[in-house]
Amino acid sequence: MEKGYKASITGVGSFLPEKVLTNDDLSKMLDTTDEWITKRTGISERRIVENGVAASDLAVEASLRALDDANVLPTEVDLIITSTVTPDCLFPSTSCYIQEKIGAQNAGSFDLLAACSGFVYALSVAKSFVASGAMKTVLVVGAECMSKITDYTDRSTCILFGDGAGAVVVQQGNGGREIVTTHLGSDGSQAELLTLPAGGSKLPASHETVESHSHYIKLRGKEVFKQAIINMVDVITKAAAANDMQVEDFDMVIPHQSNIRIIEAAMEKLGLPREKAYININRYGNTSSASIPIAIDEIVKGDLLKPGDTAILVAFGGGLTWGSSVIKW
Ligand code: COA
Repeated sequence: MEKGYKASITGVGSFLPEKVLTNDDLSKMLDTTDEWITKRTGISERRIVENGVAASDLAVEASLRALDDANVLPTEVDLIITSTVTPDCLFPSTSCYIQEKIGAQNAGSFDLLAACSGFVYALSVAKSFVASGAMKTVLVVGAECMSKITDYTDRSTCILFGDGAGAVVVQQGNGGREIVTTHLGSDGSQAELLTLPAGGSKLPASHETVESHSHYIKLRGKEVFKQAIINMVDVITKAAAANDMQVEDFDMVIPHQSNIRIIEAAMEKLGLPREKAYININRYGNTSSASIPIAIDEIVKGDLLKPGDTAILVAFGGGLTWGSSVIKW
């Protein structure tokens, strides 16, 4: 068991843009079909922001809902941590925009980058701040406008991603869903499997980078697919052992929503029934670090777990990165 003060999720919120992009819409834009996408990914539709909407706009709505749910005023927030691969801009941080827009005058703010695993990483950081006693109230946000970095001429990636945001309030004490343990992992030797090559210091924006579509996600799907299953299974197994549990003891697995076949294969390898995994990928696609907090919000609003149940969050993404977090409901 980890030491220090208890850290609990006391409020949750999410926000999805209204505009829906269906598989049929995509099949009119490029050479694909609803049947292929549904069968190979489990995705039927995803949400897409309108022009002019940034990650912080989605984050603000999700954050205000989470704060309201926790009965916490924005001025009571000590720290905002946002996980995003689609920040409003390279700097300042998206967290600073959120801080200003929600009126969190007393909060420190920073962003954290661990791609699709980012929410679990951010939750782990929040737990550590709270467990050490350094902070009492941390707002953890996963917010993504994946449509802004998606190449809608590349059928192997554009079918996967969607936009959305989720947020949770983490506070000291027992009055919520306790974050019991977190486990994080990474393997930078496989960084090239999933990248956004241009726009950073290695390959700054230029006419050439725009022409070569280098500001869009590049994905080696098959290899990522395999690594996702291996590492999700491993980090769930580690979490169970660290908590003196068997994997069957988890009442629900709340996975990052990357591909239904990845989730199903991981559940099968763990010997768990598919029904134990929470799945909403059919409606939203892969919203990167927003997928887990959106799922948590739906689970809470739908009363799908009861007090005393144990859930495990599990994520995998570019980096490569992965992580899990055991939550006592
Ligand atoms: N519509 C129709 N056909 C498509 C297609 C599409 N949207 N995308 C690819 N294809 C074709 C390919 O061109 C290929 O054709 P070929 O056999 O004639 O060469 C065939 O389908 C198989 O492609 P492949 O890439 O092997 O498919 P896949 O089963 O691996 O599925 C992904 C591709 C991207 C859906 C899958 O690899 C995946 O989900 N990977 C993980 C990605 C991910 O989640 N990344 C983020 C991690 S957080």
